[in-house]
Amino acid sequence: LREKYLTAISQAADADALEEVRLAAVGKKGEVALAMRGLGKMTPEERQVEGPRLNALKDEINSALAAKKAALEDAALDARLAEEWLDVTLPARPRRVGSIHPVSRVWEEATAIFADMGFAVAEGPQIESDWYNFDALNMPSHHSAREEMDTFYMKRADGDDRPPHVLRTHTSPVQIRTMQAQGAPLRIIAPGRVYRADFDQTHTPMFHQVEGLALDRDLSMANLKWVLEEFFSAFFGRPVKTRFRASHFPFTEPSAEVDIQCSWEGGTVKVGEGDGWLEVLGSGMVHPNVLKAGGIDPDQWQGFAFGMGIDRIAMLKYGIPDLRAFFDSDLRWLRHYGFAS
Ligand code: PHE
Repeated sequence: LREKYLTAISQAADADALEEVRLAAVGKKGEVALAMRGLGKMTPEERQVEGPRLNALKDEINSALAAKKAALEDAALDARLAEEWLDVTLPARPRRVGSIHPVSRVWEEATAIFADMGFAVAEGPQIESDWYNFDALNMPSHHSAREEMDTFYMKRADGDDRPPHVLRTHTSPVQIRTMQAQGAPLRIIAPGRVYRADFDQTHTPMFHQVEGLALDRDLSMANLKWVLEEFFSAFFGRPVKTRFRASHFPFTEPSAEVDIQCSWEGGTVKVGEGDGWLEVLGSGMVHPNVLKAGGIDPDQWQGFAFGMGIDRIAMLKYGIPDLRAFFDSDLRWLRHYGFAS
């Protein structure tokens, strides 16, 4: 019995095999238990010899089982350590950190600069009614300026002959919404997405504008010029001259297109130096009809408005030649310009 079980214990390959040996030897129905039950039928003399012998055997088997169990556990741990080891001296995997898109960056910078000059941020919907996008801005139906806008129209249900909603073609409808909501005086900018059916190196069907609107008792074009020069100098980090050219917008009178000073050398544009000029925005004194549409009395209030291309000034600031690349989501491009790691 002793030989048999000590050999079986030493040969058990794993915990399950060992448990089987244990049950067969010292389990309730194991051979040693069986032999112990046999003690009852022996003479007292025999029992005195056999009893201690069986007890000693049971102890010996139990300690052999315990020793084997510990040895198996050690071996299992060794195997796991050999398999799962980790080389902490290996270099870590490179970690990609997210970054802010250049358009978002310029949007936020512009917002911060205008905030310093007391302009709050206003918003309006991107799907806009015909009235807010056109009529209220002094562009009644069949006004020629409407056709120039390459407008995206939303489809009305069959039989519904009200004018269709549009994807706003500019941020100017926010002027009207803010006048209606806040009255005068006011000073806001409205950055946001706008849409026109146009696509080439400097046009994408979706782009970004920031609208500006200031209304008070006696604001003039001089205030507008100061605000814009202040803005561009802060934005480009150096003094930037502006040039106002007489122009026409239905919603401003007088109107001006504004150029900023720049140099062109070797195909790269540098803002704030040289004697070249680059058009960056439309502006003017808010037309009385527009004030009326916004519920404001043109005899009491006047002010200026401007609309500037956010993508446009981002291209200038970062020297990016193709507007379309802003919206390609190409990480290689973003990395090239240092906008992603
Ligand atoms: N809404 C005009 C455009 O998109 C820009 C503009 C805004 C002009 C405000 C004058 C005043 O071209």
